[in-house]
Amino acid sequence: MARLRVAVLISGRGSNLQALIDACRAPGFPAEIVLVISNVADAGGLERAQRSGIATQVIDHRGFQGREPFEDALDAALRAARAELVCLAGFMRILTAPFVTRWQGKLINIHPSLLPKYPGLDTHARAIADGAAFAGCTVHYVVPEVDAGPVIVQASVPVRPDDTAETLAARVLTVEHRCYPLALQLIAENRGDA
Ligand code: GRF
Repeated sequence: MARLRVAVLISGRGSNLQALIDACRAPGFPAEIVLVISNVADAGGLERAQRSGIATQVIDHRGFQGREPFEDALDAALRAARAELVCLAGFMRILTAPFVTRWQGKLINIHPSLLPKYPGLDTHARAIADGAAFAGCTVHYVVPEVDAGPVIVQASVPVRPDDTAETLAARVLTVEHRCYPLALQLIAENRGDA
Protein backbone atom coordinates (compact mmCIF):
# COMPACT_ATOMS: atom_id res chain seq x y z
CA MET A 1 0.00 0.00 0.00
CA ALA A 2 1.22 3.54 -0.76
CA ARG A 3 2.53 5.39 2.24
CA LEU A 4 0.10 7.70 4.00
CA ARG A 5 0.77 11.32 3.01
CA VAL A 6 1.22 13.37 6.17
CA ALA A 7 1.48 17.12 6.78
CA VAL A 8 2.78 18.43 10.10
CA LEU A 9 1.78 21.82 11.52
CA ILE A 10 4.20 23.45 13.95
CA SER A 11 4.88 26.75 15.68
CA GLY A 12 8.14 26.08 17.51
CA ARG A 13 11.17 23.89 18.14
CA GLY A 14 9.66 20.79 16.52
CA SER A 15 11.02 17.98 18.68
CA ASN A 16 7.83 15.97 18.05
CA LEU A 17 8.18 16.74 14.34
CA GLN A 18 11.71 15.30 14.59
CA ALA A 19 10.36 12.12 16.18
CA LEU A 20 7.91 11.78 13.28
CA ILE A 21 10.64 12.47 10.71
CA ASP A 22 12.87 9.82 12.30
CA ALA A 23 10.04 7.27 12.36
CA CYS A 24 9.14 7.90 8.72
CA ARG A 25 12.74 7.28 7.74
CA ALA A 26 12.62 3.68 8.93
CA PRO A 27 12.30 1.18 6.08
CA GLY A 28 8.73 -0.04 5.71
CA PHE A 29 7.18 2.72 7.84
CA PRO A 30 3.67 3.20 6.42
CA ALA A 31 3.67 7.04 6.32
CA GLU A 32 5.72 9.86 4.79
CA ILE A 33 5.84 13.56 5.63
CA VAL A 34 5.07 15.55 2.49
CA LEU A 35 4.84 19.04 3.99
CA VAL A 36 5.64 20.96 7.17
CA ILE A 37 3.71 24.19 7.72
CA SER A 38 4.59 26.74 10.38
CA ASN A 39 2.65 29.84 11.32
CA VAL A 40 5.91 31.23 12.78
CA ALA A 41 8.65 32.14 10.29
CA ASP A 42 11.59 31.35 12.60
CA ALA A 43 10.23 28.15 14.14
CA GLY A 44 13.16 25.81 14.78
CA GLY A 45 11.19 22.89 13.39
CA LEU A 46 11.41 24.35 9.87
CA GLU A 47 15.15 23.72 9.84
CA ARG A 48 14.64 20.17 11.01
CA ALA A 49 12.33 19.57 8.04
CA GLN A 50 14.66 21.27 5.58
CA ARG A 51 17.62 19.20 6.84
CA SER A 52 15.59 16.11 5.97
CA GLY A 53 14.62 17.40 2.53
CA ILE A 54 10.96 17.90 3.45
CA ALA A 55 9.01 20.74 1.81
CA THR A 56 8.18 23.59 4.18
CA GLN A 57 5.79 26.49 4.03
CA VAL A 58 5.31 29.47 6.34
CA ILE A 59 1.72 30.66 6.64
CA ASP A 60 1.84 33.52 9.13
CA HIS A 61 -1.56 34.04 10.72
CA ARG A 62 -0.72 37.72 11.20
CA GLY A 63 -0.91 38.23 7.45
CA PHE A 64 -4.63 37.44 7.39
CA GLN A 65 -7.75 39.30 8.47
CA GLY A 66 -9.04 36.78 10.99
CA ARG A 67 -9.04 33.03 11.41
CA GLU A 68 -11.15 32.07 8.42
CA PRO A 69 -8.83 33.32 5.64
CA PHE A 70 -5.82 31.96 7.58
CA GLU A 71 -7.45 28.55 7.76
CA ASP A 72 -8.46 28.73 4.08
CA ALA A 73 -4.76 29.22 3.26
CA LEU A 74 -3.84 26.25 5.46
CA ASP A 75 -6.51 24.17 3.79
CA ALA A 76 -5.32 25.13 0.30
CA ALA A 77 -1.71 24.23 1.15
CA LEU A 78 -2.74 20.89 2.64
CA ARG A 79 -4.84 20.05 -0.39
CA ALA A 80 -2.11 21.11 -2.82
CA ALA A 81 0.26 18.72 -1.01
CA ARG A 82 -2.42 16.01 -1.19
CA ALA A 83 -2.12 15.49 2.54
CA GLU A 84 -4.18 12.58 3.84
CA LEU A 85 -3.45 13.19 7.52
CA VAL A 86 -2.55 16.36 9.40
CA CYS A 87 -0.48 16.14 12.60
CA LEU A 88 -0.50 19.13 14.93
CA ALA A 89 2.87 19.14 16.72
CA GLY A 90 3.17 22.17 18.96
CA PHE A 91 0.94 24.22 16.66
CA MET A 92 -0.11 27.14 18.82
CA ARG A 93 -3.22 28.35 16.99
CA ILE A 94 -6.70 27.24 17.87
CA LEU A 95 -8.44 25.91 14.78
CA THR A 96 -12.10 26.81 14.31
CA ALA A 97 -14.95 24.35 13.96
CA PRO A 98 -15.32 24.69 10.15
CA PHE A 99 -11.65 23.79 9.57
CA VAL A 100 -11.73 20.98 12.11
CA THR A 101 -14.93 19.59 10.62
CA ARG A 102 -13.44 19.69 7.12
CA TRP A 103 -10.48 17.60 8.35
CA GLN A 104 -12.21 15.58 11.06
CA GLY A 105 -10.87 12.02 11.24
CA LYS A 106 -7.74 13.21 9.43
CA LEU A 107 -6.48 15.67 12.02
CA ILE A 108 -4.57 14.62 15.14
CA ASN A 109 -2.77 16.42 17.96
CA ILE A 110 -0.34 15.67 20.76
CA HIS A 111 -1.09 17.20 24.14
CA PRO A 112 1.21 17.11 27.18
CA SER A 113 -1.22 15.70 29.74
CA LEU A 114 -3.30 12.62 30.38
CA LEU A 115 -6.50 13.98 28.83
CA PRO A 116 -9.20 14.58 29.94
CA LYS A 117 -6.98 15.92 32.77
CA TYR A 118 -5.47 19.36 32.12
CA PRO A 119 -6.62 20.52 28.70
CA GLY A 120 -5.15 23.90 27.70
CA LEU A 121 -1.84 25.42 28.80
CA ASP A 122 0.53 24.96 31.78
CA THR A 123 -0.33 21.29 32.09
CA HIS A 124 2.79 20.32 34.07
CA ALA A 125 2.52 23.10 36.64
CA ARG A 126 -1.13 22.22 37.17
CA ALA A 127 -0.35 18.51 37.64
CA ILE A 128 2.33 19.36 40.22
CA ALA A 129 0.05 21.83 42.03
CA ASP A 130 -2.62 19.11 42.29
CA GLY A 131 -0.16 16.61 43.76
CA ALA A 132 -0.82 14.25 40.83
CA ALA A 133 1.06 10.95 41.05
CA PHE A 134 1.27 10.63 37.27
CA ALA A 135 1.53 12.96 34.31
CA GLY A 136 1.84 12.08 30.64
CA CYS A 137 0.79 12.77 27.10
CA THR A 138 -2.10 12.05 24.78
CA VAL A 139 -2.33 11.73 21.01
CA HIS A 140 -5.93 12.28 19.98
CA TYR A 141 -8.16 13.09 17.05
CA VAL A 142 -9.02 16.78 16.94
CA VAL A 143 -12.65 17.80 17.38
CA PRO A 144 -14.02 21.36 17.62
CA GLU A 145 -13.76 21.33 21.43
CA VAL A 146 -10.12 22.10 22.34
CA ASP A 147 -8.03 19.16 23.64
CA ALA A 148 -10.94 16.76 23.44
CA GLY A 149 -11.58 14.02 20.87
CA PRO A 150 -10.96 10.28 20.68
CA VAL A 151 -7.67 9.13 22.20
CA ILE A 152 -5.28 7.17 19.99
CA VAL A 153 -2.28 6.70 22.31
CA GLN A 154 -1.51 7.77 25.89
CA ALA A 155 1.53 7.21 28.07
CA SER A 156 2.15 8.15 31.68
CA VAL A 157 5.26 9.03 33.65
CA PRO A 158 5.61 9.46 37.41
CA VAL A 159 5.59 12.90 38.99
CA ARG A 160 8.56 13.06 41.38
CA PRO A 161 8.41 14.98 44.67
CA ASP A 162 11.11 17.43 43.59
CA ASP A 163 9.72 18.02 40.08
CA THR A 164 9.43 21.49 38.61
CA ALA A 165 7.28 22.16 35.56
CA GLU A 166 10.51 22.02 33.53
CA THR A 167 11.78 18.67 34.82
CA LEU A 168 8.33 17.14 34.45
CA ALA A 169 7.97 18.55 30.93
CA ALA A 170 11.29 16.96 29.96
CA ARG A 171 10.17 13.56 31.30
CA VAL A 172 6.83 13.81 29.49
CA LEU A 173 8.57 14.86 26.28
CA THR A 174 10.51 11.59 26.15
CA VAL A 175 7.23 9.66 26.02
CA GLU A 176 5.71 12.15 23.57
CA HIS A 177 8.48 11.23 21.16
CA ARG A 178 7.46 7.57 21.35
CA CYS A 179 3.70 8.09 21.35
CA TYR A 180 3.37 10.31 18.29
CA PRO A 181 5.16 7.95 15.87
CA LEU A 182 3.20 5.03 17.34
CA ALA A 183 -0.10 6.83 16.79
CA LEU A 184 0.90 7.67 13.22
CA GLN A 185 1.82 4.06 12.58
CA LEU A 186 -1.47 2.79 14.00
CA ILE A 187 -3.47 5.17 11.81
CA ALA A 188 -1.45 4.45 8.68
CA GLU A 189 -1.80 0.70 9.20
CA ASN A 190 -5.54 0.90 9.84
CA ARG A 191 -6.61 3.36 7.18
CA GLY A 192 -10.28 4.02 6.93
CA ASP A 193 -10.95 3.15 10.57
CA ALA A 194 -10.77 6.71 11.84
C1 GRF B 1 4.78 19.45 23.15
O1 GRF B 1 4.90 19.35 24.52
C2 GRF B 1 3.40 19.09 22.69
O2 GRF B 1 2.79 18.10 23.49
C3 GRF B 1 2.66 20.38 22.82
O3 GRF B 1 3.58 21.37 22.45
C4 GRF B 1 4.91 20.90 22.67
C5 GRF B 1 5.63 21.00 21.35
O4 GRF B 1 6.99 20.69 21.47
N1 GRF B 1 1.45 20.37 22.04
P1 GRF B 1 7.86 20.46 20.18
O5 GRF B 1 7.76 21.72 19.34
O6 GRF B 1 7.31 19.27 19.46
O7 GRF B 1 9.25 20.23 20.68
